[in-house]
Amino acid sequence: MRYFIGNWKMFGVPKSVNILNKINSYYSRDKNRNKYRVVITPPYTLIESYSRHFKNKRVTIGAQNCYQKEHFSSNTAAISPYMLKSVGANYTLVGHSDNRGEGDTDPMLKDKVRYAIKNNLKVVFCIGENKIEKKNKKTLSVLKKQLTRVLEKKFDKNKLIIAYEPIWSIGTGKIPLAKELKKTTIYIKKILKEIFKKDSPPVLYGGSVDGSNVEMFKEIKEIDGFLIGGASKTSKKFIDIIKNYYR
Ligand code: PGA
Repeated sequence: MRYFIGNWKMFGVPKSVNILNKINSYYSRDKNRNKYRVVITPPYTLIESYSRHFKNKRVTIGAQNCYQKEHFSSNTAAISPYMLKSVGANYTLVGHSDNRGEGDTDPMLKDKVRYAIKNNLKVVFCIGENKIEKKNKKTLSVLKKQLTRVLEKKFDKNKLIIAYEPIWSIGTGKIPLAKELKKTTIYIKKILKEIFKKDSPPVLYGGSVDGSNVEMFKEIKEIDGFLIGGASKTSKKFIDIIKNYYR
């Protein structure tokens, strides 16, 4: 199974559902549709209405983040995994570099992953090195720490997806070299196998993925799909990624 996950970030109002309607109609007719899953993570404000709208359709709705407590608490503006599930979210991103940059720590991320899984959300756990770490050849050690400090064997592996997103690649148009990315993805899967003592959960790539560079990524069979930011906000760009992946 492949995944095409669109992360809208701070984008979207109710009428933006038209973008997803177009993606959904392509997806419903695509002869390859059973080979992949499309998940979109709109902002919190749209999760309930979009989840209802797509309930019996193919596109799945998720959240971009969740708070590190399970149900209710006195934390202003916080949204828990329980609350997300109750309005129809099926997935949540955790640990996106935007949120790590705003103060998410490994212990916080561990609680987010734990409580999201407990509330039956599928977690897309994001990891990735920054430009300086890459320059200093610290990529693999950074990724290993990000994985081992948060994930535990007891977490349900079937509810986890890992998204490798080099920070220097997010929104910049810069992408890793194929050879390097293959090596990194294999390494991530090796660490995951050690953590879970069985097969690795799926590992996605994210960072400046678009309809033209997806051809390069599809050569790397270890990559199980993509986390797509900028190109998920236009139906044509998002559909082009899927079309070119299966061409
Ligand atoms: P991008 O964002 O595709 O715009 O680089 C990816 C992400 O932040 O998930």
